[in-house]
Formats: sequence, C-alpha cells, structure tokens
Amino acid sequence: MKLTGMVVVSLAALMGLYGCGNGDQKSESKHYDGKALMEQKCAQCHNLKMPPDTSDEEKAPPMYAITVHLKDWMKGNTESEKKANFIAFVSSYVLHPSLEKSYCKKDMLQKYGLMPSQEGKVTKEELEAIATYAANTYDQSKMLEILKEKNRIAAMKPYAQVLALKDCKMCHIYGEGKVAPLFKDIAAKYTQKDIETIKDAIVHGSKGKWPAYHTPMRAYKDLTPLQLDGIAHWILEQKQ
Ligand code: HEC
Ligand code: HEC
Repeated sequence: MKLTGMVVVSLAALMGLYGCGNGDQKSESKHYDGKALMEQKCAQCHNLKMPPDTSDEEKAPPMYAITVHLKDWMKGNTESEKKANFIAFVSSYVLHPSLEKSYCKKDMLQKYGLMPSQEGKVTKEELEAIATYAANTYDQSKMLEILKEKNRIAAMKPYAQVLALKDCKMCHIYGEGKVAPLFKDIAAKYTQKDIETIKDAIVHGSKGKWPAYHTPMRAYKDLTPLQLDGIAHWILEQKQ
C-alpha cells in the first residue's frame, strides 16, 4: 500500500492535474454513458464482468478487483470522499500510469506490465463517467447478491434454469400463441424421436416451420448441454 503516493495523486487531481483533454469541449450538460464508454475503451484489456472471468492470458486485472481494492485503499472520512478520491485516481492513472502511482502488487505488475497510457484515446470527462460507473457498480455487497442469485439458479433443474435465464416464456407462454407457437402446441406436433429437431431449433434458431408466425426465432448458443437437453424434454412434456 502506498498511501503517500495516494495523497500526492489526489491532491494533484483536486488541483486540476489534467491539463490534457480538450478544455474547450467542457460541456457539463453532455451526458456520458460510463458503462458504454468502459466497454469501448477498457474492455480490450480489463474483464468487466461481475463476477469476473479470469484467465492466465488476461492482459490486465479485472475491473471488479481493481475497483474494490482501490475503493478500499482510498483515503477519506466519508464514503463520498473516498468515492471522489477513487474517481480522481482513476482519471489520473489512466492518462498517466506509473510504477509509483500503481497500487498493483509488484508480482502482478511483472505479470501484466504497466498499463499503457490511454492519453488521446479517452478524455478526462469520459474517464470521470467511467470511474463513477465503476464505483457504483463494482461493489462487494452487489457481488454477494449476484452470487446468491447464481447459486439460486444453479440449484434449479436444468430446464428451469433456462426458463429463469432466457426469455422463452415471453413468446411461448405469455405470447398467447400470437407471436410464437405455444409450448403445448410444439409438444403436440413432436414426439420423443424429434428431440434433436427441437434442440437444433433452440441452438440455431428457427424460421419457416410454423407458417402462422412470421418473425423467426433467434439462436440460443450459450446453453449448456444439460440445459439444452432439459428444456427440450420439458417442452415435449407440455402436451395437454
Ligand atoms: C492496453 C491494455 C489496457 C487498457 C486499454 C486499459 N488498461 Fe487499465 N490496466 C492495464 C494493465 C496491464 C494494468 C495493471 C498494471 C498497472 O496497474 O498499471 C491496468 C491497471 C489499471 C488500474 C489500476 C491501477 C492500480 O493502481 O492498481 C486502473 C484503475 C485501470 N487500469 C483503469 C483503466 C480504465 C478505466 C481503462 C479504460 C479507460 C483502462 N484501464 C484501459 C491495461 C489496460
Ligand atoms: C421472440 C419470440 C421467441 C422467443 C423469445 C423464443 N422463441 Fe422459440 N420460437 C419463436 C417462433 C416465432 C417460433 C416459430 C419459428 C418457425 O416458424 O420456424 C419458435 C419456435 C420454437 C420451437 C419449435 C421449433 C421447431 O422445429 O418446430 C422451439 C422448440 C422453441 N421455439 C423453443 C424456444 C426456447 C427453448 C426458447 C428460449 C430459450 C425460445 N424458443 C425463445 C419465437 C420465440
């Protein structure tokens, strides 16, 4: 932990260290979408998911880990002071990264290398929006909620996981047969030997098989084999 470094950084930030952005474009009213900007400008190196995907080949620490640790290390008497210091630190670091400023542990720095300055690729205003979004989003209690929800879904039967995670019900149950064939009608049309046909329609999408409906169904490629098998069998059981 380098607290002295931090004091220098936050003071400098408060005093207006950023002399680099387009000063004349300072329009307070302009709305910056921190989430979209982060996806555009940071995601090629930092994983943005919560919980994050980590891999040996990752180019940088995940944004969740960075934010939670930095928020913890920021000085400040109140949460909002800490948050302001966090935003100032991130805004300054991204434009002027340095070994002295980095809170990254030595071995981590060796693994990743120092972050290349993003000067010219992102403005100070954009960084403030990005850092504000990070401060509000990446947070331990939110992570706990997400993990709880993940556990809740993981405990369900595979078909129920699909119904909880995907929007199938919107069209196939609540649609009342107006936007898509109801699951019970699909069940009536097919038998167990058609299970592969059903799985194929889910994985690759479907169009033209049900002439009453004109909008095709999109593909759901990210189901696990268990989920796919579970939902396909469940649909066939919906006969009435
Ligand atoms: C080209 C890859 C790359 C891009 C693009 C990038 N980063 Fe980084 N970033 C890194 C690496 C590598 C590290 C870890 C080493 C370090 O701390 O400098 C890092 C570290 C950080 C840190 C932690 C500093 C510390 O003290 O621990 C912050 C904050 C950060 N990045 C924010 C951002 C934001 C915000 C963006 C988007 C505007 C961004 N980065 C874009 C590579 C990148
Ligand atoms: C936006 C509406 C919509 C959503 C959401 C949707 N579908 Fe469909 N689905 C359709 C339509 C429309 C068809 C008929 C397509 C056709 O004519 O081939 C269809 C057809 C099907 C069929 C029958 C395919 C065949 O070969 O006869 C199955 C099975 C199916 N959907 C399963 C699902 C599952 C499982 C999900 C969620 C993972 C899902 N659908 C989500 C609109 C939707």
